[in-house]
Amino acid sequence: MKVRKAVIPIAGLGTRFLPVTRSVPKALLPVLSTPLIHYAVAEAAECGIETAALVISPGMEGVTAYFESHHGLEQALADRGRDDLLAQQRAIREAVEIVSVVQSEARGLGHAVHLAKSVVGRETFAVILPDDMIWNRPAALQQLMQVHREHGGSVIAARAVAEEVIPSKGIIDAKPIGERVHQVRGLVEKPALEDAPGNLSIIGRYVLHPAVFDHLAAGKAGAGGEIQITDAIAATIGEVPLSACEFEGYHADAGEPQGMLLAALHEAASDRELRQAVLDAIGDW
Ligand code: G1P
Repeated sequence: MKVRKAVIPIAGLGTRFLPVTRSVPKALLPVLSTPLIHYAVAEAAECGIETAALVISPGMEGVTAYFESHHGLEQALADRGRDDLLAQQRAIREAVEIVSVVQSEARGLGHAVHLAKSVVGRETFAVILPDDMIWNRPAALQQLMQVHREHGGSVIAARAVAEEVIPSKGIIDAKPIGERVHQVRGLVEKPALEDAPGNLSIIGRYVLHPAVFDHLAAGKAGAGGEIQITDAIAATIGEVPLSACEFEGYHADAGEPQGMLLAALHEAASDRELRQAVLDAIGDW
């Protein structure tokens, strides 16, 4: 069955992006002029997702407002003949139905995903973490959907990472079963380096079987005292197939300033003027 719904959790405190996240939600921080949440919803739309549940924290209404119609702005753009900008504004808000769910306590990614259960229902769904930006055609989520069609069950996005990154990620224990596809034997959230089963990290794209909700319902705290999606997915091993897809594409962790800079440079590289501006600037260093 087609994957129709996506959960986009954005309720985190954004500590890696302080001080700006004191008053601006991280999901609204831009790569050049486009906020992270826009990229995430655009990827969902590109992959045929019909409904996206944004899990926000109280006070993040600005994020949902981003997808509402701004009559005054749109009228002004029409009056000025800025049809290009007008089309861009309309395209993103008409692409996917946006529903918001409020997470009032920071109890972890698993808790956030569980809150969206009433929107998702009992069907296979996608999860997109907007911090993880991935540029590719087909989109990373589309690549996971393809693995889901072939192997069923749940699929997580994976990438080999450097040792210093391992303790801050979900780490995968898996054996290769095809080109870029692994069968997952276990998952560990944020392990100490010596306990890590390898260097394959979970990256923020998932296609999940609804059995994951059954394990999230138990509300068991894991790494960092939070309810982890990684633990709930690991608990489904043996019940439903679980694959990891080493997706193709350029990846940047835009959830912190250095990754955001790399994301902006990646975008700039595909624009002739911006590329030249960057090269000129670096030449002066
Ligand atoms: C989350 C997941 C982790 C995954 C990471 C990818 O961690 O819990 O398993 O590797 O996203 O970005 P967080 O970034 O929320 O700490």
